[in-house]
Amino acid sequence: MTETVHVSWSPGSADVSPTVWLDETERGRFDRLRKVEDQRAFLTSRMLLKTMVGCLADTPPELVRLSYHCPRCGRSHGRPVVVAPHAAVRWHVSLSRTSRQVIVAATDAGPVGVDVERTAATGFEGFVGVALTNAERTEVERCAPAAQARARAVYWARKEAVLKATGYGLAVDPAALEVSAPHLPAALTAWHAGQPQPRHVQISDLPVDDDHVAAVAVLAQMPVLVDLQQVPGSGWG
Ligand SMILES: CC(C)(COP(=O)(O)OP(=O)(O)OC[C@H]1O[C@@H](n2cnc3c(N)ncnc32)[C@H](O)[C@@H]1OP(=O)(O)O)[C@@H](O)C(=O)NCCC(=O)NCCS
Repeated sequence: MTETVHVSWSPGSADVSPTVWLDETERGRFDRLRKVEDQRAFLTSRMLLKTMVGCLADTPPELVRLSYHCPRCGRSHGRPVVVAPHAAVRWHVSLSRTSRQVIVAATDAGPVGVDVERTAATGFEGFVGVALTNAERTEVERCAPAAQARARAVYWARKEAVLKATGYGLAVDPAALEVSAPHLPAALTAWHAGQPQPRHVQISDLPVDDDHVAAVAVLAQMPVLVDLQQVPGSGWG
């Protein structure tokens, strides 16, 4: 038997109303985003995620409510959790956004984490030292120069997907976990963090576009298959 993780991705350009898709807390965060493209991606992420959960739970998407309690400071900027309606609360969810891509995931198999990264975003000075283990650095250096940025981004997306599935986020040092080399099937291969090691970690790379890489991780004993849908951009919804 297998379970499914549902994943949707879209350019963050849906032309929809914040009033319909955001609750008061989300609206406050939306209003504080300064760049229009970040606002669009934020709004698209909520519309996409609520539409997905509404569809899975057979409930109107506008009624889906998410909470984002941060256990470290109590503010509403943590992992998204479905809190209403009752029919939808069993769905584990995750989202990730850049200014040009939004990706959301939902599954009832177990906690889920999804991450999308711009390949170019891993090129900054110091990334390798912060994000990768020695073995991962060596593996990146083995790649042809033109392939190194993508290799770094694959590592990063896989790691962030795992850290989001655990709920730790970047409270765990990304260099304290190791994932498989980019050319190998995605897997968690080592865990050196002080926090308890997650069990039954399943990671899948997600094809997005030439400028981005993405991954989804699910903590589930049962094998999980990815159902990946691309949602058209502008005007959708
Ligand atoms: C979560 C995190 C890994 C995401 O980083 P990112 O690459 O900048 O952004 P992404 O777009 O890929 O993901 C952001 C989404 O992850 C989700 N998220 C936030 N914290 C999360 C966590 N601990 N676990 C799982 N998901 C989380 C949110 O839905 C967030 O979206 P939103 O900001 O639109 O609500 C990183 O921002 C993080 O760990 N933040 C918390 C760090 C922390 O604990 N700071 C101290 C707080 S007091």
